[in-house]
Amino acid sequence: MMPEMDGYEACRTIKGAEATRNIPVVMVTALNDMESKLKGLEASANDFVAKPVDWTELSLRVRNLLKVKEFEDFVLQHNRTLEDEVRKRTFELEKAHSALKESYIETIYRLTLAAEYKDEYTASHIERISYYCKTLSETMELSDDFTETIFYASPMHDIGKMGIPDNILLKPGKLSSGEFEIMKGHTTIGSRILSNSKHEYLKIGNTIALTHHERWDGKGYPAGLRGEEIPLEGRIMNLADQYDALRSRRPYKPPFGHEKAFDIITKGYGRTTHEHFDPVVLQAFKEIHRQFEEIFETHGR
Ligand code: C2E
Ligand code: SIN
Ligand code: SIN
Ligand code: FE
Repeated sequence: MMPEMDGYEACRTIKGAEATRNIPVVMVTALNDMESKLKGLEASANDFVAKPVDWTELSLRVRNLLKVKEFEDFVLQHNRTLEDEVRKRTFELEKAHSALKESYIETIYRLTLAAEYKDEYTASHIERISYYCKTLSETMELSDDFTETIFYASPMHDIGKMGIPDNILLKPGKLSSGEFEIMKGHTTIGSRILSNSKHEYLKIGNTIALTHHERWDGKGYPAGLRGEEIPLEGRIMNLADQYDALRSRRPYKPPFGHEKAFDIITKGYGRTTHEHFDPVVLQAFKEIHRQFEEIFETHGR
């Protein structure tokens, strides 16, 4: 029976606001009927006293409600502390996890460098391979997950070359067919090094090491897989690898310019024909071959 706003509405307003909702409300009502009590309960009042007010009774009820509130405040504060603690721990865990992931990726990278130490390969070659594969994956509109995985897994493709004798690997001229047979083993050796991991990067690294010399026309090695029998990451790696090998100096060949590498891949020349490549990967390469050129130019030699 207050002016402007009645007691029920005042109570609802107090209980409806975040800042005041935990303040206990005792309704002092002129009437002592059931209906107004129910209305008060609906407005979330905590207790009722009837007019005329018995001050002893009122102060007793207020004291009880404040005791309850004190406990509620304690629980609330405790929960907040717990939540803060959980947030802090989660943040620290995420930090530790990303540091672990970084160190894992760096370890793969350094191992790959070590494996190719005696070859003419360099850190920039390994970086370039990642970027070619990423660019092809993006152009083919493959998922972000796939793109990230191939980015980190592709540098391991030739890790099996560490098992090839130096007199073959570093031979300045053309390999004999017997030597080339041994050379082909770098795919299966790589796969032996990388197989049976339960981790995605290493699993895909294994697939790439094993299948990056398979050819779309079925004339590749080691298994002679054909078309889509070859895992997609192997088909992508195959083109990226050949572009970079063509652009680079090898013990057995001089470096070629972009136009010559492009022609060898798209038109065929010597031991390469365009039938070696997945047409979809080849099409993506034709669309963005200038990006390949830029990756090669900007990552040194
Ligand atoms: P790599 O040097 O990294 O070359 C990777 C792939 O790029 C080669 O796979 C081939 O498909 C392509 N490629 C590289 N250079 C040329 C080229 O001058 N012309 C054409 N058309 N394609 C080229 P491939 O043939 O299976 O060879 C695998 C690996 O075997 C090579 O890796 C390299 O380490 C070794 N290798 C191949 N041929 C010779 C050779 O005549 N002499 C020596 N010393 N090593 C060779
Ligand atoms: C081709 O060999 O298909 C021509 C290369 C190009 O698309 O520019
Ligand atoms: C080769 O195929 O062995 C070298 C010739 C070339 O493709 O440039
Ligand atoms: Fe290889």
